Amino acid sequence: MKERIFSCLPPDHPWGRQIHWFDTVGSTNTLAKELAAQGAPQGTAILAGSQTAGRGRMGRSFHSPQGLGIYLSVILRPNCSPAELMHLTCAVGVAMCNAVEAVCGVRPGIKWINDLILDGRKIGGILTELSLSPSAGVDYAVVGIGINCNHTLRDFPEELHSIAGSLSMATGRSLPTERLSAAMLTELETMSRRLLADKAGFMESYRRDCVTLGRSVCVLSDSGIRGIAEDVDEDGALLLRLENGDLKRLNSGEVSVR
Ligand code: BTN
Repeated sequence: MKERIFSCLPPDHPWGRQIHWFDTVGSTNTLAKELAAQGAPQGTAILAGSQTAGRGRMGRSFHSPQGLGIYLSVILRPNCSPAELMHLTCAVGVAMCNAVEAVCGVRPGIKWINDLILDGRKIGGILTELSLSPSAGVDYAVVGIGINCNHTLRDFPEELHSIAGSLSMATGRSLPTERLSAAMLTELETMSRRLLADKAGFMESYRRDCVTLGRSVCVLSDSGIRGIAEDVDEDGALLLRLENGDLKRLNSGEVSVR
């Protein structure tokens, strides 16, 4: 599989020689963090055929059955403070929409902050994790992406049947996962070069892709408070207009919306 992904990359792709493929792992993010702590360089990519302990945001799990999805984590080493990386999950989201559109011809939407959506169903998610150096700069960031590719509804556990979907369910075609994996790596590499210099550009694209804006949302983790999603600010926070007219700023680390 590693060779098949490699053969889909441009020959001069700077990350091409740093792909690690595993048939099964606990979590590619956990493994990437271990490799990063041992000094693995920017652009080290971990891909797996399945995960036994795939992780999502806010302590959730990510269903990762063998051979049906893409489970990818990449190590980034931006030279900056954590405050300069608040938009990282949004930038990865835009990059993943670009990759899916390039390979499948359909562009997913993004449900704030990290869910990729097609036909109203979640087809993927993003988990970004940072580690700080002793001087409180960013030592490394691990960006983890899971995409449901060739699942049918039967491949998901029953509790996900009303919310989960896959690219093949949405397009009616089976998906070449090696081509999409290569497109994801290409988009992530381009993103990593623009990340700090073009924050405004990423956030402009994110607002276009974000299907949450303009909708009435319920903040699950804040006693069910409800409002209209008005904007996403430069740090990726959701600005929610409450029924009493107040504007509430929701930080992705603390809340999730429905
Ligand atoms: C979410 O839905 O909240 C985020 C899901 C992120 C899943 C990906 S799969 C590859 C990487 N490894 C993990 O354990 N999680 C991410």
